Amino acid sequence: MAGTRWWQRGIIYHVYPRSFQDTDGDGIGDLEGIEQRLEHIAGLGCDAVWISPVYPSPMKDHGYDVADYTGIHPLFGTLEDFDRLVARARALGLKVIMDFVPNHSSDQHPWFLESRSSRDNPKRDWYVWRDAKPDGSPPNNWISVFSGPAWKWDEATGQYYLHSFLPEQPDLNWRNPEVRAAMYDAMRFWLDRGVDGFRLDVVYYCMKDPELRDNPPNPGWKPGMPEIDTLLQTNSNDHEDMAIVISEMRELVDEYDDRLLIGEIYLPLERLMAYYGRDLSGAHLPFNFQLILTPWEAREVAALVEQYEGLLPEGGWPNWVLGNHDQRRVAGRVGAAQARIAAMLLFTLRGTPTLYYGDEIGMPNVDIPPGRGEDAWGRHEAGFTRDPQRTPMQWDDTEHAGFSTVEPWLPLSPDWRARNVASQDRDPGSMLTLHRRLIALRRGSPALAIGDWSGIETVGDVFAFKRHREGDEITVVLNFGAREEEVADLHLPGGAGRITLSTHLDRDDETVGPGVRLRPNEGVIIVA
Ligand code: NOJ
Repeated sequence: MAGTRWWQRGIIYHVYPRSFQDTDGDGIGDLEGIEQRLEHIAGLGCDAVWISPVYPSPMKDHGYDVADYTGIHPLFGTLEDFDRLVARARALGLKVIMDFVPNHSSDQHPWFLESRSSRDNPKRDWYVWRDAKPDGSPPNNWISVFSGPAWKWDEATGQYYLHSFLPEQPDLNWRNPEVRAAMYDAMRFWLDRGVDGFRLDVVYYCMKDPELRDNPPNPGWKPGMPEIDTLLQTNSNDHEDMAIVISEMRELVDEYDDRLLIGEIYLPLERLMAYYGRDLSGAHLPFNFQLILTPWEAREVAALVEQYEGLLPEGGWPNWVLGNHDQRRVAGRVGAAQARIAAMLLFTLRGTPTLYYGDEIGMPNVDIPPGRGEDAWGRHEAGFTRDPQRTPMQWDDTEHAGFSTVEPWLPLSPDWRARNVASQDRDPGSMLTLHRRLIALRRGSPALAIGDWSGIETVGDVFAFKRHREGDEITVVLNFGAREEEVADLHLPGGAGRITLSTHLDRDDETVGPGVRLRPNEGVIIVA
């Protein structure tokens, strides 16, 4: 696979550090725990581990409120622990991706403490301060992602500050060159320490309308949607000046060897593509969340893949994400049977896959009992807690699922005694085995890892497509429905092929052609 970069061929594994492995007996995961479990990630066949924030933080948003961009929270360990984790990852052939949070800091960050100390503090302009309107109301109508006004009144200095997320997460002023320089220094700190790249948290928020004009109402809002969606975010993020910021960040990582820039960007596909930058001078991988957001139906998903492939800029590398700590787990969204189809899709589409911890064993969303809720969004807006998808990793059937020696910070899923890494490791039909085999197949096949993609006509509930590279052809056929399906003609070279993997893990080497019959919720990979 010469001529491709590691992150094009590679698979990214996303660790939510609070929930991966606790080693110091406080019920919360830590860096040493991640280090101990790196073999699981390498054993799956992944290439990189992205770790959600581990910086010093008051933990109002579980680490996405950063109080020091160049440190490690004692809860997770020390810088030395981090260095050890990176060294161990290296030894296992794994890259390490740091989560970087540019749009906002914690309100406890020394920069903000200075900024709010007086109107003429040199760091006043490091954040977004504005006078009240004559009637005392906030400067504009923007709403925080976690509901309520995006402005907080500061009594002491008599102005509002902007917080696109929690009031404890004030937005940095990216139009101030000193802020940019300070953030770039922080990125250099980690690059110098050997990290292989960054996942940039809500990077598209960094540049807003310079005049901070009101957002228009969203005609598509319906009850049940979060308050933030009552307005279109026309002026509060994704200003065209984002192109400058993203290309500056790219220039910075390009000063180093072979590093990766991923952007967390929830925007319509047309806008998402802008984040590849002019002549691909932006993010290598603007995260593509469409498999999470698109209705789980063969036709919808087929249309999505066509559309995404069609919109990619020349040379832009695709990527696909099935889950993360902000979204309901895939096994809950599509159901346990279809989660196998989702996994087969993730690892056979063209583009870098990102796998969320626990999805490889089909972890469900967990109902959190009253009083045990942790997520700030859930506290601010009823119905929007993200705790269900953040519960501890289920390693084995010992007490606390091998995650900790004490009661974990969030409750375990009730199914942990049966559903865990150890039990699935021994089971040739398990979700874990399916993941291992899918990943091994992808890694061993240039057609799957880096080949072209083309769709086959979608029939009924079946989405079928091909991957090809230099004469090698692979056909993927996925039944999105709970009924048997038959595809009459898969246009296999020579009219026949061999099943190399079924989601049910029981059809190895079966000869098929010119079509194939699929059982309910079955997907197959066919080699010519
Ligand atoms: C996106 C992160 O993934 C999410 O967890 C966080 O709450 C917001 N950004 C704010 O940083």
